[in-house]
Amino acid sequence: MIKMKDIVREGAPVLRQKASDVPLPASNEDKEILASLMEYVQNSQDPEISEKYGLRPGIGLAAPQIGISKRMIAVHLRDENGGLISYALFNPKIISHSVEKAYLTSGEGCLSVDRDVPGYVHRYARITVKGTTLEGTEIKVRLKGLPAICMQHEIDHLNGIMFYDYIDEKDPFRVQENAQPIER
Ligand code: NI
Repeated sequence: MIKMKDIVREGAPVLRQKASDVPLPASNEDKEILASLMEYVQNSQDPEISEKYGLRPGIGLAAPQIGISKRMIAVHLRDENGGLISYALFNPKIISHSVEKAYLTSGEGCLSVDRDVPGYVHRYARITVKGTTLEGTEIKVRLKGLPAICMQHEIDHLNGIMFYDYIDEKDPFRVQENAQPIER
């Protein structure tokens, strides 16, 4: 199982690389990697397991964050209505998005970043993502709110992008035009 010591931190070159596509159908090795990403996120949200292993809670994890430069991500969280949003995907891709932007009023964090980086991260308010599940099914998902933010954060990891790249250094809390706040 993935523990905090396995999670690479900012400064590691792998976090700035563009990850390569996973050949499909996925190999057993790649399936195990993807399953382990999901397992970490779920474990980290379990009070007993996270306490026992010292896991920092997260709602998403991408393969480059465990040092593997391949296009795999897991997201696992509740939407604003309490519905479970849980996807482990090979080769996720945003195929369309809103013009409207959104940002978390609390800012963003990342398991690979051991510090608070204050400021707003503007992302698309709504996205449609395509990807392939652990079972090998190609799916298309529409997301908004926190799940859309989380998915964009994880897909960014596959392209070497960190959340703070979007923060305006001179004016970190400036709100862009046409952007809606999201409370966590
Ligand atoms: Ni992250």
